[in-house]
Amino acid sequence: MENYKYEISNFNPKVASDEENAKFTNCCKNLFDNEKDFKYLSFTGIKHTDELHSYWRETFDPANKEYLIVKDGLNIVGLCIIIKDISEKFEILGMIVDADYRRKNIATRCLLAAEKKAAKYGFRAVHLNVFCDNKAMLINVIKLGYKPTNIEYHKRYDGEDLLSLVKYL
Ligand SMILES: CC(C)(COP(=O)(O)OP(=O)(O)OC[C@H]1O[C@@H](n2cnc3c(N)ncnc32)[C@H](O)[C@@H]1OP(=O)(O)O)[C@@H](O)C(=O)NCCC(=O)NCCS
Repeated sequence: MENYKYEISNFNPKVASDEENAKFTNCCKNLFDNEKDFKYLSFTGIKHTDELHSYWRETFDPANKEYLIVKDGLNIVGLCIIIKDISEKFEILGMIVDADYRRKNIATRCLLAAEKKAAKYGFRAVHLNVFCDNKAMLINVIKLGYKPTNIEYHKRYDGEDLLSLVKYL
């Protein structure tokens, strides 16, 4: 990847040290705990517990899941969660950027990096779902060439609809 102020790399909890894992879990908690953003990231609205984070860490399988992290120095300021299922699809399950680091192209760079990975693995499309009130993410992905393919009504706990989008590679 070309030179960029913020480093984008893979994070694999299975090979990371305990210290790195603790830092990653803490960063996920901070990113996911932001009250304003949480409705864009959850169907249920139920906050993540420490047990849930430990479970995700313990059950992480690099064959079907990848984390891309964005760092500013030692701090994790962005996270992109990828699900790769060769029998079904390559999907961006989550994309979050620290509120202090927004509008610096971080999500755009992550999504492009994920698309590159998808192509490398042989996938022909990248899928993602965005709640219909998430203006920032919708503008972001439409600008990148994602096309709406489906809408599911009242999918979120408060009745918000969910838009599925795809980008053909
Ligand atoms: C959505 C999100 C990931 C975007 O991250 P980001 O790094 O700030 O996005 P980028 O800087 O790459 O933005 C690219 C373009 O998207 C559009 N965009 C991004 N945020 C926007 C906003 N708040 N309002 C309007 N347009 C926005 C702009 O066109 C922007 O280009 P510009 O800055 O040159 O105008 C970030 O706002 C976020 O973490 N939100 C909370 C979590 C979330 O909703 N995740 C998505 C779940 S599906």
